[in-house]
Amino acid sequence: MAPRIATLTLNPAIDQTIHVDHLVPGEVHRALSMRLDAGGKGVNVASCLADWGADVTALGLLGADNAAPFESLCAAKGIADRFVRVAGSTRVNIKIVDHADTTDINMDGMAADETDLARALAPLDAFADDNALVVLSGSVPPACPPEIYADLVSRLRTDGARVVLDTSGAPLGHALSAPVLPHVIKPNRRELAAWAGQPLDTIEDVIACGERLRARGIELVVVSMGEEGALFLSDEGALLARLDAGPLASTVGAGDAMVAGLVAALAQKAPLERIARLATAFAVAKLGRAGPHLPQRSSVEALSEDVVITPAQKCGGVVHGEV
Ligand SMILES: Nc1ncnc2c1ncn2[C@@H]1O[C@H](COP(=O)(O)OP(=O)(O)OP(=O)(O)O)[C@@H](O)[C@H]1O
Ligand SMILES: [Mg+2]
Repeated sequence: MAPRIATLTLNPAIDQTIHVDHLVPGEVHRALSMRLDAGGKGVNVASCLADWGADVTALGLLGADNAAPFESLCAAKGIADRFVRVAGSTRVNIKIVDHADTTDINMDGMAADETDLARALAPLDAFADDNALVVLSGSVPPACPPEIYADLVSRLRTDGARVVLDTSGAPLGHALSAPVLPHVIKPNRRELAAWAGQPLDTIEDVIACGERLRARGIELVVVSMGEEGALFLSDEGALLARLDAGPLASTVGAGDAMVAGLVAALAQKAPLERIARLATAFAVAKLGRAGPHLPQRSSVEALSEDVVITPAQKCGGVVHGEV
């Protein structure tokens, strides 16, 4: 039986994109267009999984005052909306796009208190069982303890769920030093280097760091490296996967699409090479689109066949990437 998939987004955002001709600080501008998109990493993962055809449940916190973009996205894509509404508004991140640049103005997340968090997490506890695959993604709201993912991983694993974690900074640090670790992590190279406290300049450095985490019990470590591709490390071996992208519409959310691809492959109980191919195909397919959307499934499958896979070999405890 295919696993049931859920994503958790504790710190969602609405992306407000405003196009103007020419941005001049201090001047009054007329907007050429404006759009609102539901955002947040778990939302992006759910959106890509739904495009792939997976049944997915989205959980987390939403401000009751401006939940419409999330409700529209869930309705349009058939995502089960189990977000808990709390008083107030979800933060709005503003992107001002003119002929030359994009200017970002990001807000702090909602001031969720303990009661809000407990309400948001209750449906996750109800969801988690030994046939559940749960994705914990993104930053946490300002008032939320940074140990939250460490605690959740332990809770979810106790219930038998498989857990994929994609976060950074203190929440990642706590989750990686906890006694119970997630099954899968997908830091990007910068996030992994920040956790390791050292630069990971070469592919060999990245592999060695990922292998240290695997040795501590994480089954699958995926390190994404932007246009250099991504490393996939499991007990089946170490693979580097990359695919040249066509014209880039937006690199934002490529990592989230990659997490969706990982989950799609894990749901099929796929071997490592298929995981690497599908995760890379999801990411590259998303690069051609502005938002967290995938083309039809056959196009993603076709891309997965074009992904270039290079083995990375382990020799006497030292790991060398064949690149
Ligand atoms: N310019 C690019 N060309 C080819 N592939 C790319 C490019 N940018 C990203 N990718 C693919 O997308 C994957 C994820 O990208 P990246 O490492 O930037 O994730 P990320 O930093 O977690 O992104 P985000 O958190 O913004 O979603 C990469 O491992 C790679 O497979
Ligand atoms: Mg990322």
